[in-house]
Amino acid sequence: MSSGASGLILGIETSCDETAAAVVRRGTEILSNTVASQIPVHSPYGGVVPELASREHLRNILPVVRAALAEAGVAYEDLDAVAVTEGPGLAGALLVGISFAKSLAFALGKPLIAVNHLEGHIHAVLLEEVLRTAPEGASRQGDRAGLTLALVVSGGHTHLYLAEFDTEAGAWTYRNVGRTVDDAAGEAFDKVAKLLGLGYPGGPWIDALAPHGNPEAVPFSFSQIKAKVHRRGEPGALDPAEAIYFSFSGIKTAMLRYTQVYEMGASIEARRAALAGLADAKPADALPLCDRRTLDLIASFQRSVVDDLRRKTFRAAERFGAERVMVSGGVAANRELRVRFTAEAPERHLPIAFPSLALATDNAAMIAAAAWPKFVAGDFAAEGLTAEPSLRLGSGGLHG
Ligand code: KG4
Ligand code: ZN
Repeated sequence: MSSGASGLILGIETSCDETAAAVVRRGTEILSNTVASQIPVHSPYGGVVPELASREHLRNILPVVRAALAEAGVAYEDLDAVAVTEGPGLAGALLVGISFAKSLAFALGKPLIAVNHLEGHIHAVLLEEVLRTAPEGASRQGDRAGLTLALVVSGGHTHLYLAEFDTEAGAWTYRNVGRTVDDAAGEAFDKVAKLLGLGYPGGPWIDALAPHGNPEAVPFSFSQIKAKVHRRGEPGALDPAEAIYFSFSGIKTAMLRYTQVYEMGASIEARRAALAGLADAKPADALPLCDRRTLDLIASFQRSVVDDLRRKTFRAAERFGAERVMVSGGVAANRELRVRFTAEAPERHLPIAFPSLALATDNAAMIAAAAWPKFVAGDFAAEGLTAEPSLRLGSGGLHG
């Protein structure tokens, strides 16, 4: 199918704890990007509660879609297609978005496009890049793209992909060349913040407090990580010896041990109680509640995680001959990560790109953008589309 009359795609994203809808024209122009966050709902539990997430998505989906259309000044009939995240994510949460998108597409008689959430995160960067570099009127993604190494780093994922635009097929292809063997990096931020009596999600709290501590105070070491699980025989399967592996559960345990050795338990509980007593606690409220040792620990943790991500990402770029690097997902919002990746890139002669802050964490503009090449190629969802909680992206056979 050739590109549609309006080029307008409504994106819907409900894979985790954000109900999001957006209208994007031709994969590059964001007309609206609405996100209803569930942070206050899950905050008291220090993590996402799946049942509550589904309930909140049900409550929010229609108002969020309406708001996205209203902000874009677009009517349902103007849309060319509806795109929705099919996975990976929480089954019940995904199903709310999928059922809604299916009914809407059916009622409107428009095509439905299924998008992998991880591909969405990669398109959060591509979307803006096309905006920055495309000549007037250009609508083809990837025209300028060489072989790209993408680090997708969020609360649920730490993956390295080689991404390339296949001009003949008009589609992006992905090869998985790295992954975590245990926790995702964002999960480590969240768990460590919880351990230290800080708020949820932990990333923004640690990001805000780390500059007040000494990042070299506590030396954490990432031991040599061996691949525990790997598959062979899949198309494009990677030799495990070539793949890059992350592990973030060790540093979490080291942090716990540190707080025990230095008997930080009482001060952690005091901080937790003080923050719980505030109506809408922010990272700035935690600063006066943290002593030097705590701030140094936070700064050292962040430095270790960021440097491990940085070292392995650039190692992968070299190993696989990538022409540029991009970082996306919630952890890509981290300021120290941006600074340290940006400092290294020129030394490696590699361009580097991040999404803007609004597009780093979960949103639907990235889903609508990833759907555009699929729309142009006529790659529509089957009638039986359903949630795929453990959906993988691309070839490589690395997923455990
Ligand atoms: O991409 P995302 O919104 O959802 C998932 O797909 O998981 O990522 C959320 C994750 C959380 O773990 C959160 O703590 C982390 O991203 N995060 C950050 C920052 N902002 C969000 N981590 C470090 N620094 C930040 N500034
Ligand atoms: Zn995400």
